[in-house]
Amino acid sequence: MRIARSFSELRTLLPRPGSCPLWLVPTMGALHDGHGALIDQAKSEGGFVAVSIFVNPLQFAPGEDLDRYPRTEAEDLAFLDKRGADLVFLPSPGEMVPKSARIRISSGRIGTIYCGASRPGHFDGVLTIVLKLFHLFSPDVALFGEKDRQQLFLIQEMVRDLALPIRVLGLPTIREPDGLAMSSRNRYLSPKERDTAAHFPELMGEAARLWAEHSGHPSKDPLSIPGWLSEALVRAGFRVDYVALADRQTFLPITGGPAPDQAYLLAAVFVGSTRLIDNLDLSAERPGV
Ligand code: PAF
Repeated sequence: MRIARSFSELRTLLPRPGSCPLWLVPTMGALHDGHGALIDQAKSEGGFVAVSIFVNPLQFAPGEDLDRYPRTEAEDLAFLDKRGADLVFLPSPGEMVPKSARIRISSGRIGTIYCGASRPGHFDGVLTIVLKLFHLFSPDVALFGEKDRQQLFLIQEMVRDLALPIRVLGLPTIREPDGLAMSSRNRYLSPKERDTAAHFPELMGEAARLWAEHSGHPSKDPLSIPGWLSEALVRAGFRVDYVALADRQTFLPITGGPAPDQAYLLAAVFVGSTRLIDNLDLSAERPGV
């Protein structure tokens, strides 16, 4: 496995352009089986599999967990070597985000709602660094997890709007045996918080079942599901950041009118000081959709 720590090293270690398909898995490290699934998918397609590890300061708002975000380089390198990655890029903050850099990609309206409402500037920071990685690697395909559904939507939108010659693939969320979505932040949870966290996917699943039930019923309102879920989450011990229904095509919030066939249920909650996110594709809950 090749390791590059600077832009110039990266240039010498990347395969010659056009010599084989290049797959990129951008990460912030603290790798888990969710990342592993992205790498496995890339490996199974053949080609050259590159992984970047960079804790991107631009996507953390002041007061967020940038300083305590887990940095586990030795474990990550062993994990990637075992998984068969061909190249790991570990750039320095100084090179990725020089002090003089003022240009930012704007994530537009969708970047200011849901997670973007409570994390101002987060998605501008994500897109700025992802675009820089795309520029440095020129990958044929880039892989991201569907757990970060809003991030995935915005990256796909950026690629489309800027006509980047890159295929962006989203892969299903990988979950712990009790359903909790895998996340580098799960390691912040105390044993008691971890027990509480298990109720998050359970209640999301219950909300999705209610959605399917309400959708086929003339006297029930599927748009009441976010309110139901918020209350159930509070009762289970969470502080709710948001619960929302998003249109699957536009990602805009669904707040009125007839319930559409194709929607995502999105939620972010706090357990203690740890923020967890999850989402479900509700079209999968409606038979025949
Ligand atoms: O999902 C992540 O780990 C990050 O947001 C990403 C895409 C690597 C950008 O820093």
